[in-house]
Amino acid sequence: MSTDAIVLLKADHKEIKSVFTKFERAGENATTTKGDLVASMIELLTVHTYIENEVMYPEVRRLLPDLEDDVLESYEEHHVADVLCMELVAMSPDAERFDAKTTVLIETVTHHIDEEEQDWFPKVRDGLGRKQLSELGEQLIRAKQKAPHSPAQPSALKKTIDAIIR
Ligand SMILES: [Fe+2]
Ligand SMILES: [Fe+2]
Repeated sequence: MSTDAIVLLKADHKEIKSVFTKFERAGENATTTKGDLVASMIELLTVHTYIENEVMYPEVRRLLPDLEDDVLESYEEHHVADVLCMELVAMSPDAERFDAKTTVLIETVTHHIDEEEQDWFPKVRDGLGRKQLSELGEQLIRAKQKAPHSPAQPSALKKTIDAIIR
């Protein structure tokens, strides 16, 4: 299996987007199904955000300082998604605002993923060699093994809280 960082992150994106599509197709009254789908999108997003925040963004910022503005914008977009995930994790699927909040999460994350894939990844691939991308990928795999799976776990909360109080 390739350990190219961009290939790995794109595979995560694909998995996340497929849960989004299932939610959008679930229908008006599929409360239980939608609750389960939101639980799985939150888990996937928690892991993905952790590995990007812990490895991808700081490493790219260090290796390619010109991309700093993109990295800072990414932190903010992830932060908005983190807040929505934290609210959704505590919300019952039959709550009035559950579907609306999930829709905003999907829109926010889809925008962010498209920006990464269409704009940011090509710049990263231009700036880093194949060897560096594969080393970055190995770091991503290691980070995934210790990643939190719920926004309520301390390692997931830390970044969200840092972003609010700093
Ligand atoms: Fe991201
Ligand atoms: Fe991503």
